[in-house]
Amino acid sequence: MQTLDRPTLANTLKLRRQQLAQHVKFPVLLWSGCSSSRNFPANTYPFRASSHFLYFAGLPLENAAIRLEAGKLQLFMDEASPAAALWHGPMPKRDELADAIGADEAYPLEALKAWTEGAATIAAQDVATQQLQAHLLNRPVAPTTAPQDIDLELARAIVSLRLRHDAAAIAELRHAASVSTTAHLAGMAASRTATTEAQVRAAMEQVILANNMTCAYSSIVTVHGEVLHNNHYHHAIKAGDLLLADVGAETASGWASDITRTWAASGTFSPSQRAVYEVVLTAHDACIAAARPGVEYREIHLLAARVMAEGLVELGILRGQPADLVDRDAHALFFPHGIGHLLGLDVHDMEDLGDLAGYAEGRVRSDRVGLSYLRLNRPLQPGMLVTIEPGFYQVPAILHDPERRSHYQDAVNWDRLAEFADVRGIRIEDDVLVTETGADVLTAALPTDIGTIEQLVRGRV
Ligand code: GLY
Ligand code: MN
Ligand code: MN
Repeated sequence: MQTLDRPTLANTLKLRRQQLAQHVKFPVLLWSGCSSSRNFPANTYPFRASSHFLYFAGLPLENAAIRLEAGKLQLFMDEASPAAALWHGPMPKRDELADAIGADEAYPLEALKAWTEGAATIAAQDVATQQLQAHLLNRPVAPTTAPQDIDLELARAIVSLRLRHDAAAIAELRHAASVSTTAHLAGMAASRTATTEAQVRAAMEQVILANNMTCAYSSIVTVHGEVLHNNHYHHAIKAGDLLLADVGAETASGWASDITRTWAASGTFSPSQRAVYEVVLTAHDACIAAARPGVEYREIHLLAARVMAEGLVELGILRGQPADLVDRDAHALFFPHGIGHLLGLDVHDMEDLGDLAGYAEGRVRSDRVGLSYLRLNRPLQPGMLVTIEPGFYQVPAILHDPERRSHYQDAVNWDRLAEFADVRGIRIEDDVLVTETGADVLTAALPTDIGTIEQLVRGRV
């Protein structure tokens, strides 16, 4: 099992639980969870530990729990049985693992039931563990039910810690960003000879696997970038296609990256693809330039909307004043999602808590079309890692919707739009760490400009 070196891991975890102890005075129980069966019990999906468990326990231990109280850490887990060792190999002993994470005490799982009194928790993702949590705590525990007061208090406390990354987390996040960058370069190079999306995906994920990482989410590698979370890879790549690749690595201890690049599969953007790409890139660059402590992320989203609207007016696709178009959400016909989200142990960090992490207290989602998919609505703070990911998409379900077509009849030059038929989907996404004075783009080593990308695809860099 790959880990941070022991003193660093144990010290980091100790600091995190001391910080938690400043926020909550009750005991906390966090479970790592269990892998789910894929098609029969012994054939499981790869195990992924709960991110809240990972934050305080550091290691992806399956079917384990930790109890935190006043800065102390107790580990509960069973040692592998001889039968399990036959199939899965020897595992470190409980005491060795406890030592690695700086636990004060370690017990078999059976002992946990004596330590549940007054404890708060957060629901694990798998149903079996959720049921165990509810059984041991003797109350409902589920991600969608209204949390008990102490569970909500715990969730708020964890959000306040995980919102701003510490040095150990940032080192991991940089590592994930660096491997993802290499994966994207491999994807661009693979496009020279690839004839299918699947071949490009394989070239990209090969880099991630070879670095002993996993994908932080299902890769999107598609010539149909207008399908925002497209998880199909069966299309042939044809001359003239844009290929959108949204692929990010996750380190062995769970820290994520999230990068999107869009390139012309042939190595040459058509004039229409180039024109729209430049609009998206202008929005991307403006948003990154605006990112610094104190700035409202919502304002960055609205900046992207305005720059997109300006660019689309210049191209003759939209008609009217950019500010008015944004007020009417006309930009959302082509840029229907938010400018990005928090990034950390989860690719959409802490989204298991609904909007508790993404939205500052007292704020709720807008029902405006142009704002409803905004996943983050807080002022930026040093140590926060966010994505900046503007895009342009021609989504048939939006653009052919009779109601919207009639509502925006005057705002769109539909004949002019038809001249951009070879631009189905473009997104440019980078991972931006907010610093004390501005921002540090962790994925800056991966070019965004058309000239360099064309060279990379053609193999001339
Ligand atoms: N990769 C998913 C996203 O960008 O939100
Ligand atoms: Mn993203
Ligand atoms: Mn992404």
